[in-house]
Amino acid sequence: MSQNETPLFTGLVKHAKRNPIQFHIPGHKRGRGMDPEFRDFIGENALAIDLINIGPLDDLHHPHGMIKEAQQLAAEAFGADHTFFSVQGTSGAIMAMIMAVCHPGDKILVPRNVHKSVMSAIIFSGAVPVFIHPDIDPNLGISHGVTTESVKKALAQHPDAKGLFVINPTYFGISADLKEIVDSSHSYGIPVLVDEAHGVHIHFHDSLPLSAMQAGADMAATSVHKLGGSMTQSSILNVKGNLVSPERVQSILSMMTTTSTSYILLASLDVARKRLATQGFELAEQSIHLAEKARKQINEIPNLYCVGKEIVGTPATYDFDPTKLIISVKELNISGYDVEVWLRDQHNIEVELSDLYNILCIITAGDREEDVDLLIEALMELSNIHSTTDNKVTKAVPVSVPQIPVLSLSPRDAFYADTESVPFEESTGRIIAEFVMVYPPGIPIFIPGEIIIQENIDYIFENIEAGLPVQGPEDETLKMIRVIKEYKAIK
Ligand SMILES: Cc1ncc(COP(=O)(O)O)c(C=O)c1O
Repeated sequence: MSQNETPLFTGLVKHAKRNPIQFHIPGHKRGRGMDPEFRDFIGENALAIDLINIGPLDDLHHPHGMIKEAQQLAAEAFGADHTFFSVQGTSGAIMAMIMAVCHPGDKILVPRNVHKSVMSAIIFSGAVPVFIHPDIDPNLGISHGVTTESVKKALAQHPDAKGLFVINPTYFGISADLKEIVDSSHSYGIPVLVDEAHGVHIHFHDSLPLSAMQAGADMAATSVHKLGGSMTQSSILNVKGNLVSPERVQSILSMMTTTSTSYILLASLDVARKRLATQGFELAEQSIHLAEKARKQINEIPNLYCVGKEIVGTPATYDFDPTKLIISVKELNISGYDVEVWLRDQHNIEVELSDLYNILCIITAGDREEDVDLLIEALMELSNIHSTTDNKVTKAVPVSVPQIPVLSLSPRDAFYADTESVPFEESTGRIIAEFVMVYPPGIPIFIPGEIIIQENIDYIFENIEAGLPVQGPEDETLKMIRVIKEYKAIK
């Protein structure tokens, strides 16, 4: 089959055009049985292909027809041996990767700043995380990935780990030397699992960072929906080499996936793959060009700084995706959060994310030059206002990293244990049963199973005082914290 073909989308449309009389779910039956306002808004075509795994349409759980062909084409496009479609985002694919290599009690090497789906998978699988500190950028106040050196240290200390998990590229588009990390891990026979949520496009342009499959990684969970043009929630899991069993990946994915898979999402993966495989280079080229133009213009605006290629060159910043516009607003003496709200209220502009010091805007093939011009105009106005008025000053907080406490129980055991609430300030020495995180840099300060240390309690209160958001605990005021219940000896 050629990359110009779309077996799943084409097969689905052909089936819908035959207009079969449907005595099967979904019960809306091409929209006739649903709310007319919603039906009219969504449109007939979308509803006609909102179908289910009946015989002619294959089954994601046991693919043997059009889904199998679409997955094979995706594997070829991404340089994988096997590609699995996920209708549960990259979160679902990440959970499947970890559960495919870890049994209860197995060690997995993970950066501390992982997405929450990694911690969910660690709880589901019963794996024991061995954390690696990510590199912190003190100027931007963001965390990068892990360095080759820290990975090598972790591998030498834990050669019995069942997997190494890395984020490549990060949300901000920074990547480490993935090839060297993969080679090091493979020298111990340890598979490398890559969170490629923010890097579906990098495989298709040689001036973008190396993709997981290009670097020889064993598995990659890739959000096609984020930057690759498919519908929200649709992702892929790529598998390569012989350290991981594709049959086990398929059965774990299947265990965690709805039996009512959305064909709209699946078909959108098929067409996104076609576009990436046949036009990916040109589309990425166009995005890089537009982003570089915007970067140059932003850097001419007083008190704004848009990160460029100069960030490359430290052990954690081996390469960089220029389609990410990390805009530091620190010099305006307002926070990234304030800028996000101001852009929304004053200019109807929505950014990808903001934190204390930065906003992040992403440029894709979906962007138009005139939209980028509007962003530049808005940023010029913002700079004018804040360079001339005496605005409130955000207290500068040097971004530092908290200690990683000792893990005394596996996160799974802590999650299922009996717990009680105690005053947070008096909780030193107890085993925590919930997560506590502070942004930036978004690194967990405590995860379930860790022993609470005074140093990290102080760190949390210092950050609260500086106005940084603390997330995770049930009690958002952080007066109380949930810990593992201790039973006193009975006299
Ligand atoms: C680094 C990272 N990994 C994984 C995910 C999960 O991806 P998805 O939203 O496709 O489940 C995200 C989502 O934002 C992410 O930022």
